Amino acid sequence: MEEATATALIAGAPDVTLLLDRAGRIVHANPAARRLLGEGIAGQAWLDLLDDFSREKGATLLARSWVAGGVADWELDHLGPAGAPVLISYTTYLLPGVEPPLLAAIGRDQTVKLELTAQLAATNQQLEGALLALERAHAELKQTQSQLVQSEKMRALGQLVAGVAHEINNPAAFIANNLAHLATLLPGMSALFEAYQPLRALTGASVRAEIEAAEGVVEVEYLWSDLADLVTESQDGIERIRNIVLSLRNFARLDEAELKEADINEGLRSTLALIRPQCKNRIQITESYGILPTTVCHPGQLNQVFLNLLTNAVQAIEGEGQIWVTSACRDDRINVIIRDSGKGMDSATLARLGEPFFTTKPVGAGTGLGLAVSVGIINRHQGQLRFASQPGNGTTVTVELPVTR
Ligand SMILES: Nc1ncnc2c1ncn2[C@@H]1O[C@H](COP(=O)(O)OP(=O)(O)O)[C@@H](O)[C@H]1O
Ligand SMILES: [Mg+2]
Repeated sequence: MEEATATALIAGAPDVTLLLDRAGRIVHANPAARRLLGEGIAGQAWLDLLDDFSREKGATLLARSWVAGGVADWELDHLGPAGAPVLISYTTYLLPGVEPPLLAAIGRDQTVKLELTAQLAATNQQLEGALLALERAHAELKQTQSQLVQSEKMRALGQLVAGVAHEINNPAAFIANNLAHLATLLPGMSALFEAYQPLRALTGASVRAEIEAAEGVVEVEYLWSDLADLVTESQDGIERIRNIVLSLRNFARLDEAELKEADINEGLRSTLALIRPQCKNRIQITESYGILPTTVCHPGQLNQVFLNLLTNAVQAIEGEGQIWVTSACRDDRINVIIRDSGKGMDSATLARLGEPFFTTKPVGAGTGLGLAVSVGIINRHQGQLRFASQPGNGTTVTVELPVTR
């Protein structure tokens, strides 16, 4: 290559091209280097052009290059002429066969690349934000959809339940009446039976044998006590059926009860009066009523909620225990808190509360409707029902209601 061509090659190179002497001074800087790092850089110590953080790194690079030779790649920060940082990635090598020795440093400005990277990162962040918003919107949509499906299902279930409850209610009522009647007849029948006994002595041997055979079939010595037990058990059973039917009806048509201005404390007190007989000697109830404004509500329905919650509290306590009932009002929100020292719930149970027919209780003890009904009632009052519980640590239920005037 001719010398003029070699000079043009260096002068026209878009990359920074520097030659450094053994003392680290710049003996040659091409136009690209001068444009980027300052017109007066020739003659300056190259290390002086670096920013404070890169200077030590630059010194190491120089020392290694002079001792070890070879090609090295380094990224170094400069303080540009305008004081703005300039990141340059250098490739350095010793010029072969040159005396005194010179080190070539060819560098490419990375500032634009950095800016692009920063822009890309910003765009990326915006994209991520948009994606997040989309995901959230999607989740909300899904939630709304499942709520819609759920409320549609509940409506259908409500109708079905109301129908079934009605159908069961009539036969249950006459079975209950008949059983009550039977119970009153039994003593008279057994007295009649006893009154017939002396007649045996007056009849012939063949009739007596017939009577004795028939008595053997029904095991006459237990007959009357068995009959009485059967009637009592059946009455228990029918009572349970009627209770279930009652909860089913409450569950199915709640909007029928009337709306009026009421004192929540009064409802709590009267509901507690219903519960107290089940607690005597076993469960201590502590009441603490705050001053509450009256509020427009369905008082009968709210009492039903309190009854359901208190019943659960009582049923959660095995042996002796405590129930605390508290009411308070702040910022136009009424809070009723029912806490028990019972056996508590695990997270799997907590997650299913309010689901119709979800119960952990044995058949006969629970229908799994108490909380489903309560959640419905509280929602209709624009309130909230919250549960806090741990296994073995009791349960706290908070009923929050807005004050409505
Ligand atoms: N205070 C409580 N302590 C422990 N478990 C409770 C409590 N309240 C509700 N639960 C749990 O929630 C379930 C559903 O309650 P609920 O809807 O009232 O139906 P049920 O009482 O008929 O089972 C209960 O079976 C019980 O497992
Ligand atoms: Mg219950």
